[in-house]
Amino acid sequence: MRAFEISNDIFWVGGKDWNMRNFHGYETKRGTTYNAYLMLDEKNVLIDTVKADFFPQMKQRIESITPLDKIDILVANHIEPDHSGGIEKMVEINPSIRIITNKSGLKALGRHYSIQNWNIELVKTGDEIKIGKRSLTFVLAPMVHWPDSMTTYIKEDQILFSNDAFGQHMATAALFDDENPLDIIMEEASKYYANIVWPYAGPVKKVMSGIHDLPIKMIATSHGVIWRKHISEILRKYTDWSLGKHINKAVIVYDSMWGSTEKMAHQVMSTFEKHNIPVTLRNLKHYHVSDVAGEILDAKYIAIGSPTLNNTMLPTVSAFVMYIKGLHPTNKYGYIFGSYGWNNSALKEIENLLVKLNWVFKKPARNVEYRPDQEDLNQITQDVEELIRS
Ligand code: FEO
Repeated sequence: MRAFEISNDIFWVGGKDWNMRNFHGYETKRGTTYNAYLMLDEKNVLIDTVKADFFPQMKQRIESITPLDKIDILVANHIEPDHSGGIEKMVEINPSIRIITNKSGLKALGRHYSIQNWNIELVKTGDEIKIGKRSLTFVLAPMVHWPDSMTTYIKEDQILFSNDAFGQHMATAALFDDENPLDIIMEEASKYYANIVWPYAGPVKKVMSGIHDLPIKMIATSHGVIWRKHISEILRKYTDWSLGKHINKAVIVYDSMWGSTEKMAHQVMSTFEKHNIPVTLRNLKHYHVSDVAGEILDAKYIAIGSPTLNNTMLPTVSAFVMYIKGLHPTNKYGYIFGSYGWNNSALKEIENLLVKLNWVFKKPARNVEYRPDQEDLNQITQDVEELIRS
């Protein structure tokens, strides 16, 4: 395996994880990559490493350019093990390597590894390290994705090494955005934002305001493709997502036992259709929560349906509601519906779990005993029309 030059004397030396299918609960149908970058200058620099299992792959790629003990500086932009997993082995091979991190990074490194003899230097936003004809400038990005997250900018080449930000979980043969289908990249970028970054919209806004001032020719992410052609598009998307902007579309997320809640879901769908609002139906028996999270990212309307089973909602709906509660989507219009036999507590539970998100809900939730009749269906149409008018 070899290194790939992405700019003059700057190489991609990461790992491609074609078989990754579940990233702490996030279904990654297209695998992922752990991107690390080698920069040759008077001081040779490695930006991030890879997940521990992929160290041999990174090592081989680096050695196609230079021995590992010729690397002077290792920038640890983020300590989550998918990026720091190769640091221990790097230090074993190259004990004097200078490891650049920040105060939170030092704490995280100390909790993950035995760092007693490591040569660690701390940086903060705006600090610069001259490495020859280039310099590394650091911009901390706390909570995008962990407290230690930071980005490294090379002003001479106008490359931003953004770590998790702007990433996508996908493994591809070609490294750049313009060498892959843009619709797939954007689908994966939005799914990634929804599942990884969405809870940290506030920190993203801060980082975006810092990044907007930088001239950028390339965003070298830590997952997925490198942005060089569609930089303004992905920056605009991150700004929109962090502001909670939505488009006029609806997603109906539900599960059903004997078809009653499904019948209600279809009525919700037909009402949105009647009002020319694009609508997507997601039965949680067939769709993974991480895919649905990506779909609701920019949706204005979210309808959630569950029958009551054993005095609570169906397990699939419970998993979805708990998951999105953690992602903390804001600025949505919600509707909750479902059927019941003798206890109708599921919908109240959904409402209670989502109350802190401050969505505009059509209240009360629509509970239907056993099976919806025409009057119930008409009532659902009225509910949804009221939500649309609100
Ligand atoms: Fe890709 Fe937060 O690690």
